[in-house]
Amino acid sequence: MNQSPVAMPSPIDPTFQDNPHAIYDPLRATEPIFHDTKLNRVVLTRAKDVGEVLNDRETLADPRKSLPDAYARRVFRVDENFRPNMLRMDDPDHKRVRSAVVKVFNQVSVDAMKGRIEQLANAILNPLTDRSSFDLIEEFARPFPVTVIAELLGVGNDSLADFMQWSVALSQVFNPMATPQELVDLAWGQQHLKDYFRRVVDERRARRGTDFISSLITAEEKGQLTEWEVLSTCELLLFAGNVTTTDLIGNGLLALLQHPEQMEKLRANSALLPGAVEEMLRYDSPITVTSRVSAETTRIDGCPFHAGQTISSMLDAANHDPALHENPHAFDIERENKRHYSFGGGAHFCVGAPLARAEAEIAFSLLLKRFPKLALDPSRPPVRKIAATFRGFSSLWVTV
Ligand code: HEM
Repeated sequence: MNQSPVAMPSPIDPTFQDNPHAIYDPLRATEPIFHDTKLNRVVLTRAKDVGEVLNDRETLADPRKSLPDAYARRVFRVDENFRPNMLRMDDPDHKRVRSAVVKVFNQVSVDAMKGRIEQLANAILNPLTDRSSFDLIEEFARPFPVTVIAELLGVGNDSLADFMQWSVALSQVFNPMATPQELVDLAWGQQHLKDYFRRVVDERRARRGTDFISSLITAEEKGQLTEWEVLSTCELLLFAGNVTTTDLIGNGLLALLQHPEQMEKLRANSALLPGAVEEMLRYDSPITVTSRVSAETTRIDGCPFHAGQTISSMLDAANHDPALHENPHAFDIERENKRHYSFGGGAHFCVGAPLARAEAEIAFSLLLKRFPKLALDPSRPPVRKIAATFRGFSSLWVTV
């Protein structure tokens, strides 16, 4: 590992966000295992190293196991009250909670819901058909996934506007550079989400249904989950189940609009859609980084680590590694090699990947069918949202 005087830009630096690969490409070529002394973490940009860390069963996710000054403590805001949800748990707890979740939330349940997901998407798109322009994020990419995940969890339709507001506030959850106001909003969103699921879980305990939350409560009664695990999993699914897919739809549509020849190919052949969604995920990943805590045994490319260091795997950099993909910065929906790290990998591989893929395929299929003249609105350029870890737009105006 090299100790370098070069500093990575702040994750929310606007120039870096405009083109992160201008930083990652030279870094990968010269210092692929980079000691970011400013933030006290190790930054990985090669696909093979990212794959190695994510698949290493000894490397840890729980930031409480970090050294006192490690970056993971800052990014996950570890204090004496910190309790990990599934995303930051290690085995054996992680395995136990994850298996309770995937028992009911999996490819089969998503396949069974596809018709309903399409109905929900159509209902949101119907009022837009008469418009000449609209903000894709505000009017479709944000309400669509939140409506789907709320229905999947069996929670109130009347709370969708609240869910969206809380989720926007929660987008700063992994931003160690959040402003004081963003931190106030974050705490507000977290508290509301917590209170909401506390109420719903109590109600559902008394009146059990066939929904996802009821099944978690049943697992709790059988001693397979604790109450904290039920509540924190509901909160995680609601949040992770919407912002990320909003960003996939926004980033993916922008890529198509900026590459009209790819858009034409997709319009001409709908069989290309699943591959196009994988390329959207690879090309402009909605989640850009995930961090781990090194164990005594952790080695990357043969390089040993002290226990407790933060290892940041840059998923977007790995996706654009020329050792993984030829011509990695090209957007090519017919790319044969579909490999990417946008859903992570190993034990914490995204539980929602089947749902995100289904939603994106349905979204793009309907957008392209309904709007044959879809284009960027030249009078209102896309506005990137300022966040760390989550990459997407706060507005993306299109003309139809
Ligand atoms: C395009 C959409 C999505 C992207 C890019 C994405 C990305 C990711 C990534 C990178 C991870 C791994 C994080 C880590 O290793 O630290 C992850 C985990 C997770 N995702 Fe997603 N996600 C998406 C959609 C969803 C959806 C729709 C849901 C739920 C409905 C969801 C729920 C989760 C959960 C619960 C985990 C934690 C899994 C574990 O710790 O075992 N995600 N996601």
